[in-house]
Amino acid sequence: MHRRILAPGALAAASLLLAIPASAASSAPGAPGIGDPYYPAYGNGGYDVSHYDLRLRYQPATDRLEGTTTLLARTTEDLSRFNLDFLLDVSEVRVNGAKASFTTSGEHELEITPKTPLAKGTAVTVVVRYSGVPSTKEAYGFNAWLRTPDGGVAAGEPEGAWWWFPSNDHPLDKATFDVSVQVPDGHQAISNGTLQSTSSRAGWTRYNWRSNKPQTTYLATLAVGRFDVTTGTSESGIPVINAYSKDLGDSDGAARASVERTGEVADWLTEYFGPYPYNALGGYVPNTPQVGYALETQTRPFYSPRQFANGSNVSVVVHELAHQWYGDEVSVEHWKDIWINEGFARYAQWLWSEHEGEGTTQEIADYVYASRPADDPFWTVKPGDPGPENQFHISVYDRGALAVQALRNEVGDAAFFAILKGWPTEYAHGNASVGDFQRYAEEVSGQPLAGLFDTWLFQPVKPAAPAARSASI
Ligand code: ARG
Ligand code: ZN
Repeated sequence: MHRRILAPGALAAASLLLAIPASAASSAPGAPGIGDPYYPAYGNGGYDVSHYDLRLRYQPATDRLEGTTTLLARTTEDLSRFNLDFLLDVSEVRVNGAKASFTTSGEHELEITPKTPLAKGTAVTVVVRYSGVPSTKEAYGFNAWLRTPDGGVAAGEPEGAWWWFPSNDHPLDKATFDVSVQVPDGHQAISNGTLQSTSSRAGWTRYNWRSNKPQTTYLATLAVGRFDVTTGTSESGIPVINAYSKDLGDSDGAARASVERTGEVADWLTEYFGPYPYNALGGYVPNTPQVGYALETQTRPFYSPRQFANGSNVSVVVHELAHQWYGDEVSVEHWKDIWINEGFARYAQWLWSEHEGEGTTQEIADYVYASRPADDPFWTVKPGDPGPENQFHISVYDRGALAVQALRNEVGDAAFFAILKGWPTEYAHGNASVGDFQRYAEEVSGQPLAGLFDTWLFQPVKPAAPAARSASI
């Protein structure tokens, strides 16, 4: 608008201008990142998603994925435009029903400009129509879409969503999910939560999955392939759905002998962590020998067949199910808080060893501590702030679990197990930082713990040998 001297009659026009909400007049672009110190471009600013509805079709023969994602969100600022994180080819975006313009920028940004600015605090519905071949899309030189001979799998941390749905890709923005995927008959589509229904038409079968508790974007998963699906119920009454690629070869028996124990392990973990947070359980093992990791995808972890190459591995099932409380129910605030996930999931594996008569947690801690000499670079990684390059360094897991054992020895078993069980409820379905954990442990134990946390999580050196556990507490 041009400035000009008020002419007669301009006063009426000026008052009309004032009728435009100040919010719209002052709207600005939402930030391209949510503010994570390790990953400044991950997530976005200006809005909060409450629900994702994905309606997709996937053709394994060509690795082509197409369909729409609808996001229900609320603005937290006045927005002239906003970003989503995504890599596939977008053909149309609608915001509150009206076609919006869009462009791509950076490594994985989809910039959306709605027809009219969005006022702070209002509900927004965003529909993104898209298609693409996920295995051909890279960001930062890598691709987390795991192609298999009979399909594909979305399972990556911290990034995994960009290859199959547009999102506010950061743990700070949790939402519920409906994932509906059509695949050729003879294939299955596996995702999180409960299978609401399936339907077949003209050679395609649609799978409708629902994850009805807040879920982070990296914990949403999709696997398409030829699977053998098993169903059951845990002793405590949670429905279990597991899926095994039909091509696991030699590892098939060991995979099933491990993942079929999901219900038993989840029930056992409730003794330590409190009630299981979700209404569904399971695990899936696709034909992905190219990766060695597992991932705690919500309600239904992903396992690589490599984990079962040498026989059963219930320990990895314990690890991924422990994350359902430590990582999924309570998620990191920023990625530097990864110790809360990995230190405790590793410690759960030590508790399982003790349960199985394969060594107490203290014996394992003593062994890990002794087997790493002071000059081992292992000790230079700070589990409380490992840096993005070391986010999944073995130190975050093993030194992280040593820190948990040190905490236990410092506060005694009664306070320790109260902390372990109380934490998931304290921050249920939310986010928390290492600082929040320290404050919570101090509150429950009534002891100052700054020195202990600093020594075990934040110093780049081997801590002095911990005092032996006092037998009296
Ligand atoms: N949270 C996973 C686990 O502890 C680690 C995933 C590591 N991610 C990766 N792309 N390597 O099992
Ligand atoms: Zn883990």
